[in-house]
Formats: sequence, C-alpha cells, structure tokens
Amino acid sequence: MKTRITELFGIQHPIIQGGMHFVGFAELAAAVSNAGGLGIITGLTQKTPELLAREIARCREMTDKPFGVNLTFLPTFAMPPYPEYIQAIIEGGVKAVETAGRNPQPYMPLLKAAGIKVIHKCTSVRHSLKAEAIGCDAVSVDGFECGGHPGEDDIPNFILLPRAAEELKIPFVASGGMADGRSLVAALALGAEGINMGTRFMATLEAPIHANVKKAIVEASELDTRLIMRSLRNTERVLMNDGVKRVLEIEHAKGDALTIDDIHDQVAGIYPKVMTDGDMQAGAWSCGMVAGLIHDVPSCKELIDRIMTEADGLIHQRLAGFYRS
Ligand SMILES: Cc1cc2nc3c(=O)[nH]c(=O)nc-3n(C[C@H](O)[C@H](O)[C@H](O)COP(=O)(O)O)c2cc1C
Repeated sequence: MKTRITELFGIQHPIIQGGMHFVGFAELAAAVSNAGGLGIITGLTQKTPELLAREIARCREMTDKPFGVNLTFLPTFAMPPYPEYIQAIIEGGVKAVETAGRNPQPYMPLLKAAGIKVIHKCTSVRHSLKAEAIGCDAVSVDGFECGGHPGEDDIPNFILLPRAAEELKIPFVASGGMADGRSLVAALALGAEGINMGTRFMATLEAPIHANVKKAIVEASELDTRLIMRSLRNTERVLMNDGVKRVLEIEHAKGDALTIDDIHDQVAGIYPKVMTDGDMQAGAWSCGMVAGLIHDVPSCKELIDRIMTEADGLIHQRLAGFYRS
C-alpha cells in the first residue's frame, strides 16, 4: 500500500507502533521497523537524554530501516529537559518524532530545522487542527477506545476519524482499537491513511516486557479496561487489577476532592513493577479495549504481514464481492 503516511516516513506498510512507557525500547521499535512499519522508541522511558542517545544507537544496530522517537509532553512542573532529549534525537539521526500530551509548539522550530517529520498524537479534532496549524506533518487521531490517555471528550473512532477527515488537510493515522486487517481497512475507509497500535504490539514476541503482561492481554476481554483519574482531567484507560480496584474505591470515596496524592501508590512508579517484574496487581498500567481482539503473541513480522494480507483479502474479496455482477 502507498499512502501519504508510507511516503512521509519512508516505510513499506502504513502501520505505526505508538510510544509506550517501559515497552517502547529498541528491541520493539527495531522489530516493527524491520517488519516494514514505523517502530517508535519511548523517549521519556530513558531517564536522561544520554540514555536516549544510547537507546537510539542500540536500535540503529538492530535495523537499517526508519524508526522514530516518542516525546510525551507531560502536564507536570518537574519538566524533563526536552531540548536535550531533542538534541539526542537529532544527533542520533532520527527523522520521525511522535509527540503527545501537551502542545508541541515550543519545540517545533528545533524539530523542523533538523528535517524531522512530526506526527502529533491527540484525541480531538480541535487539537488535530491545532497540530496542523503549528506545522506538524501528520496526526495520530486517538479515539476513546485507546489504551493510555483518551482525553476528556469520549468520542470513539467511528465518529472521530471521519470528523478528522472532514477538517484536516495533513494525513492522519487511526489510533485506538486497531488490531488487524479489519481495523486497517475500516480506518482507511473512514479517512485515515494508516493505523497506530499500542496494546496490540505489546502482545508480540519482541515486546521486551514480562510474559505475564502478554498473557494478561491475551486473556482480557473488551470489558476489562477501566477509566481512572477522570476527576483530575488526566483520564487513563487501564487494565483492571487489584491496584486499579483500589484507585476506583478511593476515587469513589473522595469524589471531586480527589488529589493525585490520594492515589499516588497505585499510579506512580508502577510500570517497572508490571513490565519488568511481571507483578500484574501492582497498580495502573495503560491498556486498550482492543485487548478483546488480541488472541495470540506473534512476532511483529507475522503480525504486520497478517494485517496486510487480511486487508488485501477484505478489499479485493469481501468488499468487492458485495457488488452485484
Ligand atoms: C502500556 C502503554 C503505555 C503507553 N505509554 C505512552 C506514552 O508514554 N506516551 C504516549 O504518547 N502514548 C503512550 N501510550 C499510548 C499508545 O502510544 C497508543 O496511542 C495507544 O496505545 C493506542 O491505543 P491501543 O492501545 O488501542 O492501540 C501507551 C499505551 C500503552 C498501552
């Protein structure tokens, strides 16, 4: 397939692996890129810009294909040194950056001067238009189904994607709930020019996370995620577990008086415990409703090849077959 997304990033298939905290290491990014998609290293999982530079170098040893780095702009006062992270990206020769979280505008001149293509991930049409206005090359439109932070509008992709298509001039990929060839064909039909997947890529052989996490995703159904931190306007979709149950109890008890300190033990520092140690009850970690569509743990190449073959069959056989001859 050739879309504006494959052309923009110089990739074979219109499939991107979204940045994921403590998941998006060089091993996964390289595997996705080697399979013809765009793999993404999660910048802030690397504690310092120096460590990010090393991770980029490690990825470069594992693939000669394009890959990107995710920069999540956090709503926090303890600001990571973003200019230094961007310097590591530039010096590492990375040509694609996925931004997310707050508006990336302050950093656009740095990124654009280095010839980096910027895809901003956001959860609404208005933020997508803002991304277009500040010079982003593409948008990742993240629907309400998504794992991670779906925003506060709660618009699912069946509405959000065609709305984005009505308004945007730059290309966009569909993010949230994407798992297979059906997702890709539907996303293309709704106006996207590719897909971005998070949860699906966690359940792959190369994802460098504990086997318990992959097992939990395969065993989970579409009913097993919960939204937390709504009253803090920092909503996150996570997989239900004992830690999340506790968060929900505290949220219920505190109502609008909830502060982040009330749930600190269940939401802070959880990722290494889950992803590295495999402690599945430790607390909140992002997971999409798409878990209900994930039934196996293939290699990234098997997954991407399967998506492309399935999409081809859907377009040329199932859909074409609906026409009366
Ligand atoms: C475990 C996990 C961690 C994530 N961490 C980040 C992150 O650090 N930065 C970011 O921009 N998005 C993050 N995301 C969101 C993904 O990049 C992607 O947008 C989302 O997973 C898409 O929805 P899906 O899971 O339904 O495919 C994370 C998602 C998951 C599942």
